[in-house]
Amino acid sequence: METTLVLLKPSCVQRQLIGEIVNRFERRGLRISGMKMMQLNEDILRQHYAHLVDRPFFPGLAKSMMASPIVAMALTGVEAVQVVRDMTGFTNARKADAGTIRGDYAMSNQQNIVHASDSIENAAIELARFFRPEEIFDYHSAVEAFLYGAGEMG
Ligand code: TYD
Repeated sequence: METTLVLLKPSCVQRQLIGEIVNRFERRGLRISGMKMMQLNEDILRQHYAHLVDRPFFPGLAKSMMASPIVAMALTGVEAVQVVRDMTGFTNARKADAGTIRGDYAMSNQQNIVHASDSIENAAIELARFFRPEEIFDYHSAVEAFLYGAGEMG
């Protein structure tokens, strides 16, 4: 099993889509192993978007990410990092496939409502950035035997 980080951005929270997006992840079969509301600040955003701090759009991106609280989620499942990335869709929501979260709920490159970790390595780093260890819960879902076939859970 892998655990990945999802952020429901201010563009999700403000549009009152929290429940709808959480529902999509749950219905796919991902287990919520951590979830909390947080107000981000410049410091954590400079870490989280370290690969983008020198880009001209960074100040606008940081402002959009601080515009309201966000919801941070830890989602667990077999190959969860790739599954969640695929559900998220292309960064520019106008180019995202229909059926993806961005393709179904957003129209913007920046106000694209969700963040999802892009690799197993980054998922571990990002989970540690947004959650204390005791805020991530390791429990068994009662329906696992019906979500996965024999041997699929490793
Ligand atoms: P990035 O890590 O490239 O994409 P993703 O979120 O799909 O992993 O970019 C991080 C965020 O930066 C992206 O979700 C929205 C913002 N962004 C812009 O506002 N303009 C841009 O041109 C790009 C590439 C990203």
